[in-house]
Amino acid sequence: MKVNRVSGRVLQGPYEPVYVYEAPVRFWHWAMMLCMIVLGVTGYLIARPLPAIGGEATFSYFFANVRMIHFIAAMLFAVLFAVRLVWAIVGNRHARSIFLPPLWSFEWWSGLFHQAAYYLFLRKAPHHWVGHNPLAQLAMFVMFVLGTFVIVFTGLSLFSEQFGWGSGWMNAFGWVNVLLGGSQMVRTVHQLAMWWLALFALVHVYMVFREDIMSGETVISTMINGVRMFKREPR
Ligand code: HEM
Repeated sequence: MKVNRVSGRVLQGPYEPVYVYEAPVRFWHWAMMLCMIVLGVTGYLIARPLPAIGGEATFSYFFANVRMIHFIAAMLFAVLFAVRLVWAIVGNRHARSIFLPPLWSFEWWSGLFHQAAYYLFLRKAPHHWVGHNPLAQLAMFVMFVLGTFVIVFTGLSLFSEQFGWGSGWMNAFGWVNVLLGGSQMVRTVHQLAMWWLALFALVHVYMVFREDIMSGETVISTMINGVRMFKREPR
């Protein structure tokens, strides 16, 4: 099988299975997804707290528990992302794909426009790709990777506030507060980044199901067993 090394486009058959997503990438994907669900729910409850809960205050620690769960999931999410960044360096070339879209490659741009035209019903069939198609790759970089950097740094800055200026946490992350012009703006950007990532997740989940049915490649099973298989020869 002939594949363009930069863009990952399959140029010629016969088609063979390709090992694309290594175990750490797959583990990271599903663990990160679970963290995101927990963060989305607890974050929403922090931003829009429930009305006061009845009963003796001593026995109700609800809001503090919500915050604690949010912080634990957030730390896990940040550590997982840091490990994923390391894996982008030491893993296979598909592990780098969402961090380094090959913007310098003509083949990649032409694939991106072809994919967009396919979604607009202007092309009958998509190209085949070993890794992500260029449009998915760009969305993952712009929406997921950049969005994750923003949500992690604004989150760590908000977390640091409880320790006060001069603390180790503030020394590490207080610059985000200064850069954005204060705590309220950090909070606003943190929430906007959450909606940005939620939008990505919504479209992403729709697209992986759609592509699994329509693209002629395995998609969902690829994030489970790591292997991309081609279900039919391209038209
Ligand atoms: C919070 C929700 C989710 C987020 C933020 C998310 C994010 C991502 C990211 C960043 C990648 C790229 C992985 C890489 O190359 O390193 C990816 C790939 C993938 N995700 Fe998700 N994901 C989410 C939920 C899901 C769900 C629910 C499914 C399936 C039911 C799914 C299926 C996949 C598949 C199949 C791929 C690989 C696509 C391909 O083969 O090219 N994701 N996801």
